[in-house]
Amino acid sequence: MTQDAAITLTSAAAGNGPLALEAVGLTKDFRLGHGATLHAVRDVNISLYKSAVVALVGESGSGKSTVARMLAGQERPTAGVMRLDGEPVDVRTSRAFRLYKSQVQYVFQDPFGSLNPVHSVGYHLTRPIKLHQGRDVDVKKRVIELLEQVRLTPAAQFEPKYPHELSGGQRQRVSFARALAAEPNVLLADEPVSMLDVSIRLEMLNLLDDLRKRLHLALLYITHDIASARYFADEVLVMYGGQIVERGPAEEVTQQPAHPYTQLLIASAPDPDNLGSVLKSGNSVPRARGAGSGPAAVGCPFSNRCPLAIDKCRAENPALHQLTAVRAAACWRLSEAAPALVNGTA
Ligand SMILES: Nc1ncnc2c1ncn2[C@@H]1O[C@H](COP(=O)(O)OP(=O)(O)OP(=O)(O)O)[C@@H](O)[C@H]1O
Ligand SMILES: [Mg+2]
Repeated sequence: MTQDAAITLTSAAAGNGPLALEAVGLTKDFRLGHGATLHAVRDVNISLYKSAVVALVGESGSGKSTVARMLAGQERPTAGVMRLDGEPVDVRTSRAFRLYKSQVQYVFQDPFGSLNPVHSVGYHLTRPIKLHQGRDVDVKKRVIELLEQVRLTPAAQFEPKYPHELSGGQRQRVSFARALAAEPNVLLADEPVSMLDVSIRLEMLNLLDDLRKRLHLALLYITHDIASARYFADEVLVMYGGQIVERGPAEEVTQQPAHPYTQLLIASAPDPDNLGSVLKSGNSVPRARGAGSGPAAVGCPFSNRCPLAIDKCRAENPALHQLTAVRAAACWRLSEAAPALVNGTA
């Protein structure tokens, strides 16, 4: 076993396609008014491969959107490097940012706020097509194509509609189509189904999965729902208090979680094998026990909620510890939390 997992750990999403977007040591500190600093994101490594899905899972305030905003070029990291297709990311000028956005698109969770009520569906799609695809493209044809891709059919009937004439699910489909208009390689989907009616969540996740496969997208799927992450992610990154506390293949992490926080999330989630019926039934995933106390400021961020915490956990923040070639967890009590994994008998 290796102490410094960041060096040798292989992404469980590797092998699906070429590496598209990579972030190493991504960190964001926010300066608060009274001179204090909020460590919103600390030392996060993410590798997004074409045709693969990485799920970023964590409860509210854990830093998921801040990671996504940095990856989207909208927030400047305090530290860390990002590379797109092997080249350092440069978004310092508006031209460079536009070029970057044509490759990396960000879809927000709110299908109501993200569309302008005074513009039609067609208008929402026409603008990015013109901006990213130049003058030669047949805009009308491309609008129809995009609407068909997100299964808003018959497309010609949806094109003149206004946001208020659409359901929440239909609006989110327009948001997906708008993101795809730039023909990106990377899609950052930030809680794309959490504001939708439970009855259509599974359908929307299936659409996203289908788009990922057909368009060979590198997909970052952000969610607070670990059961849905297992449903279609290759790799799961579990975030707590701004840090990745566990990472590995979605199937393995959800079947045999190593970190006490992941174990708590899984224990309080519905049976993942019944995910389809769970999503349809509307049973929401309960929060882990002790939620509300917030991450500890000193030591392991989970130490004030962890049933296994000892003095060391309250004093020192553990680094990610490599368990297998593709799995790692940041915990001082792994021998107790996941003995089979630590002893290699899993
Ligand atoms: N611009 C900002 N200035 C100061 N603090 C911020 C700013 N943006 C985010 N934060 C703080 O950073 C932390 C992480 O926020 P973030 O929005 O990334 O969490 P999240 O995991 O996406 O949560 P949610 O599930 O609620 O969307 C929070 O404590 C938040 O209050
Ligand atoms: Mg968020």
